[in-house]
Amino acid sequence: MPHYVDLHAHYLPGLDDGATDREMSLRMLRAIAALGFSDLYATPHQRAGMFMPAREQIDEAFRTVSEDAREAGIDARLGLGAENFWDDVLHRRLREQTVPSYDDGAAFLFEVNPQLIPPMLENELFQLRVGGSLPVLAHPERYVGIQRDITLAERLGRHAVMMVDLGALDGAHGRTEMKTARKLVLEGLSHAAASDIHRPEDQTTVAAGMAWIRKQLGPDALETMLSENPRRLCCRCSSARRASRSRYTAWTGARCCTRSVSSRRRRSVCTWRRWR
Ligand SMILES: [Fe+2]
Repeated sequence: MPHYVDLHAHYLPGLDDGATDREMSLRMLRAIAALGFSDLYATPHQRAGMFMPAREQIDEAFRTVSEDAREAGIDARLGLGAENFWDDVLHRRLREQTVPSYDDGAAFLFEVNPQLIPPMLENELFQLRVGGSLPVLAHPERYVGIQRDITLAERLGRHAVMMVDLGALDGAHGRTEMKTARKLVLEGLSHAAASDIHRPEDQTTVAAGMAWIRKQLGPDALETMLSENPRRLCCRCSSARRASRSRYTAWTGARCCTRSVSSRRRRSVCTWRRWR
C-alpha cells in the first residue's frame, strides 16, 4: 500500500530545470508513485534571476498535470509547494507572509548557496520558528559548510527540518554529497528525505537511496523519514497548520536533535514531536 510523502520534486512542466512537457511530467509521477509514494508535492524553483515562474503559471501547470494524472489513473494525491532560494525575494515574501509553502501552510522548502551558508542563518531560522513558520532545508548534504562541519546541520536542525535527497545517498550528486548525506542519516540529523526528481530516470537512484536507508537503519527509519515526519509538515496530510497556534511546542519539536553529535553514534532517526 503506497503511503510515502515526497516533499521535493520538479515534475511541473516548463517552469524550471525539471519536466519539460506534460508527457514527461506523467512519466515522473509514475516513476515516484511506483516506489510507494502516495503524496507527491511539486516544488518548482523560486530563484531570482534564474527560475521565477509566476504563481498563476504554477497554478495552471499544477491544474493541468493534476487532470492528466487523474485521466492516466495515477494513484497518488498531488500537492503544491516551492523550492525557495534564500535571496531578497524570499526575504521580502517572508516579511509580507507570502512565501509559497506546502499547502499554503506553515512549512516551506528553501535552499541556500551551496558554497556559502548565510552567516546569520541559524538566528534567522530561530526567528522564523518563533514567528510560527517551519523552514525545511533542501538537500543539506550539498552545502560546503555542512560537508566540513556536520555539527552545523545539528544546530540548523534545531530550527529547521533537514531533508536529504534520496539520490544523494546513492552518490547521484557526487562523492562528498553522498558521504555527507549518509552521515546525516546515520547520525540522526536528517528528519526527512525526498526524491528531488528532475527527470524520470532519477527513479533509479531514488530507489537506491530508499534501499540504503532500509538496509542501514531498518524499515521503521524509512517510515519515519518518508511518511511520519513529512506528514507533520503538509497541511492536508496532518495538523501542520496548527503550528502557528502552538509556536513553542512546535519549536521544541526538534529537541531530539540537540544532543552532541560526538556522543555515541545514534542508530535511530529523529522524530519530530507531534504538534498539538
Ligand atoms: Fe530541487
